[in-house]
Amino acid sequence: MKIEDSIETFNSLLKRQGFIWGPSPEIYGGLAGFYSYGPAGMALKNNVLSIFRKELRALGFGEVECPNVMPEIVWAASGHLERFIDPVLNCVKCNSVYRADKFLKKELPEKMIDGLSFEQMETLIKENNLACPNCDTPLRKIEEYNLMLSTKVGTDTIAYLRPETATTTYLLFNRLDQVMRRQYPLKVFQFGKAYRNEISPRQGVLRMRSFDQFELQIFISKKQEYDFAEFDDVKHTKLPLLDWKLQANNIDVPNSISLEEAINTKILKKPAFAYCLYIAHYLTKKLGYSDNVIRYRQHSPNERAHYADDAWDLEIKTEQFGWTEICGIHDRTDYDLKRHGEYAHQDFKVAMDLNPKEKEIPQILEVAYGIDRILYTLLETNFSVEDDRINLQLTDFLAPNTVAVFPLVKNKENIRKLALQLHQALQDNLIYSFYDESGSIGKRYRRQDELGTPYCVTIDYDSLKDECATIRERDSMEQIRVKISEIPDYIKTKLEESKI
Ligand code: GLY
Repeated sequence: MKIEDSIETFNSLLKRQGFIWGPSPEIYGGLAGFYSYGPAGMALKNNVLSIFRKELRALGFGEVECPNVMPEIVWAASGHLERFIDPVLNCVKCNSVYRADKFLKKELPEKMIDGLSFEQMETLIKENNLACPNCDTPLRKIEEYNLMLSTKVGTDTIAYLRPETATTTYLLFNRLDQVMRRQYPLKVFQFGKAYRNEISPRQGVLRMRSFDQFELQIFISKKQEYDFAEFDDVKHTKLPLLDWKLQANNIDVPNSISLEEAINTKILKKPAFAYCLYIAHYLTKKLGYSDNVIRYRQHSPNERAHYADDAWDLEIKTEQFGWTEICGIHDRTDYDLKRHGEYAHQDFKVAMDLNPKEKEIPQILEVAYGIDRILYTLLETNFSVEDDRINLQLTDFLAPNTVAVFPLVKNKENIRKLALQLHQALQDNLIYSFYDESGSIGKRYRRQDELGTPYCVTIDYDSLKDECATIRERDSMEQIRVKISEIPDYIKTKLEESKI
């Protein structure tokens, strides 16, 4: 049967090869918004994380980890209790629930919905006589719906599962200030779960109710935001920027301009914030995305989260879901530390510049990645069907297996032994190797192509004589003979060469 180059083929690949399964728990019918990763998905995720961690360490970021559950006062202080809300439309007849902005985007695709206030959305619904898609009853009033998942700790302490890792990082501020010896800008990140009680999530793995964030925070003085040394090194970098004024004029093609030009034309206000857009681009490119699937979309003032003075989404173009945010870059000002200082009765003023008498509450700049969205977009943008073959063209160091080792036949003990020895030697060299002896060689190649394995090595009858094996390269399908003892070094060189 011919393999179709379609989104259905892609979706079935995710399940078949153990990347993403769900909604979970599948055997009980599944709960929308919850997914599991299989071994291939976890290997890919861990490879993304290790690249990010390595890069950020080199850039001077420290890592922290905080609890996922925090008492109510934290979320009162952060503003999430009052303002982390979605607009909801309830059908009074059939009780169907819709997220108003998503509903309007679907019903009125020609209109610009992002950034409209609740009242403006209600007016649009009324003017266009929009009704419940399920029972045709007119829809009217938009209500507020808080996205946090609540729980109780012990018998009586109201608490919430964190809707972002960021807030929990800020709660460590006085500790970080001390341990990082007041070296501002102070750079830190946190990876971990966050939870949002999305209203009827419909975008599969893109809108999970339990998801992984990887959020960078830069604590910085007001002066440093405008006088930021690293900006000089990156100011000529051109990024595809779609500011909100362009969007308001129904333009959806970004301008590719340098960060310096963006500052000069006031599209961006602060060099340090522009640097955060650069960092997001730098990290994203490390994962192998090509330039033509990347853009930055600015939030309009109405669309921004309650803590943000400026916000841009780094978006990836996907076939199934259109432009998809994988990272949000936010200028959170001193909002968070001011609020936590007030609620926790702490003085968060510190001397950040040379003059010890000039104390201020640090500003915070944030680069917030959604790791699950990275995984989905990496898989989709690297998926292809060529000549009846599924090929996942992940960069070498992201692929769940770097090498797969096959004995040509499994019932020849000498061949099997040689293959297992090579598999062990690769592992000893810290190369992700996978051993497979089941099925025809053709099927084994196909399986590894679907997993994105860049190199397959086959030990055959000739190997017993010439001590060489065949290395087959995933994308070109070219095959070369290499001395078995030299294969680990050969792969290491290839990995080095593929680094971005
Ligand atoms: N911390 C920012 C966000 O959750 O989007």
